[in-house]
Amino acid sequence: MRPTHRSRVAVLGLGQMGTEIARVLAEAGHDTTVWNRTSARTEAFKSSASVASSADEACRGADLVLSVLSNYTVTDELLKAPGMDDALSGKTLVQMSTGTPDEARSTASWAVRTGVAYLEAKIVAYPNSIGTDHSSILYSGDPETFGRWQHTLAPLAGVNVLVGKNVTDAATLDLAWLGFWYGASAAFHQSLALCRAEQLPVETLSSQLRWMVDFIELTARDSATRVENDDFSGTDCTLEVHRSALEHVVRASRDAGIDDRVPRSVVELFSRAIALGHGGDELPALDRAVTRTSSR
Ligand SMILES: NC(=O)c1ccc[n+]([C@@H]2O[C@H](COP(=O)([O-])OP(=O)(O)OC[C@H]3O[C@@H](n4cnc5c(N)ncnc54)[C@H](OP(=O)(O)O)[C@@H]3O)[C@@H](O)[C@H]2O)c1
Repeated sequence: MRPTHRSRVAVLGLGQMGTEIARVLAEAGHDTTVWNRTSARTEAFKSSASVASSADEACRGADLVLSVLSNYTVTDELLKAPGMDDALSGKTLVQMSTGTPDEARSTASWAVRTGVAYLEAKIVAYPNSIGTDHSSILYSGDPETFGRWQHTLAPLAGVNVLVGKNVTDAATLDLAWLGFWYGASAAFHQSLALCRAEQLPVETLSSQLRWMVDFIELTARDSATRVENDDFSGTDCTLEVHRSALEHVVRASRDAGIDDRVPRSVVELFSRAIALGHGGDELPALDRAVTRTSSR
């Protein structure tokens, strides 16, 4: 596919993710340059892209540079290497590694000092979904910079969205998502193990997932609004009652001889909220255990 506007792009890092990012940009018809520390990984691009022998050479030949290295430590080291500030000055750098808001802030201030336009990008997809509708990329930073490159970046994902103009916004939302997803995955494996230990067919659990996920969304939306409004009271279910329900999960896991660390750590969180004086409050009061704020 030929883009209506052909851009000069460089991709630094051809790991699992960088390889797919570079492939999609090259296939979209952009003038693509690739660089990787281990040169063997550039072989696949000999006919579709220019292969640079150094990172600064890759940046010199591009107007938009995408960094898809392991993490910020590796990226920052590379950015501080001789020749890089000069090669990137006046260009746009998109940092795509996973990292914390503090790391994003720090790399963004390097960019400001160096005269580099800067966007954060966080990928919510596996490499094999890059370039398909099953991928999202969350961007943050200056809206004008995003607007300038939006069309060039569009082929990378089904959803390419500027989530905020604070440079940290994409990293914050990405980690909020990852914390939620991995926590939910750990809890799901607990449930799966319990069902299997009690000979409940796995299909029975799978077939009920839709309403479970819908219920989580409903209660999470409610909690988000109520935490904003400091509104923890209600007539549905107290934290004390929730905790005793959870204690059954711990007991059943022990009875079945499976690991109980996941439900136990959740019971601990509920107990902390109760100790802070929220035993008679509802689920949103868990916020107080997480933020460690004592009872109002
Ligand atoms: N894979 C996913 O599903 C996924 C999804 C979302 C976000 N991400 C994020 O995308 C980033 C890349 O992930 P990945 O899966 O592509 O990782 P990966 O396959 O391990 O690739 C890491 C890349 O970083 C390079 N690198 C590592 N240390 C280096 C150093 N000291 N100097 C120069 N280059 C160095 C590697 O070069 P060499 O080839 O020379 O080792 C390689 O290009 C990570 O931040 C990850 O969290 C990944």
